[in-house]
Amino acid sequence: MPPQHAIEACAARRDTPGKVIIRSIKETAGGVSYQAQDNGCGMDEQTRAKAFRRFFSTKGRKGTGLGLMITRKIVYEHGGWIDFKSQKNKGTTFTIRLPRLKEAQSELKTVR
Ligand SMILES: Nc1ncnc2c1ncn2[C@@H]1O[C@H](COP(=O)(O)OP(=O)(O)O)[C@@H](O)[C@H]1O
Ligand SMILES: [Mg+2]
Repeated sequence: MPPQHAIEACAARRDTPGKVIIRSIKETAGGVSYQAQDNGCGMDEQTRAKAFRRFFSTKGRKGTGLGLMITRKIVYEHGGWIDFKSQKNKGTTFTIRLPRLKEAQSELKTVR
């Protein structure tokens, strides 16, 4: 999950104190965006291109390469969207956007 990655990415970068910012943004259209920003090790171009691939990991035996693949699958199944911006030795920001579910909306109406 992105917050765990953010913490790991900071631990992997030793030249600066780690900082992780989590944001959730309620959108006017009814959806919600969620961001995890870190100033950790960041990703080079090759890593960025492969980050969501199954079994791709730069963490050696500590990695499974499944986290982002599964996260993206879950987000897509909820009709959402996930992306990131990352620069080597600068940091990474993941954004997940989830739409408000129609079912949830009609349930709310019933309660009211
Ligand atoms: N916040 C981040 N900062 C730097 N690299 C990241 C970050 N999140 C993901 N990555 C890169 O994406 C790869 C794939 O992530 P993931 O699918 O969760 O596998 P794992 O965490 O098991 O390595 C990681 O190995 C790492 O190289
Ligand atoms: Mg992971």
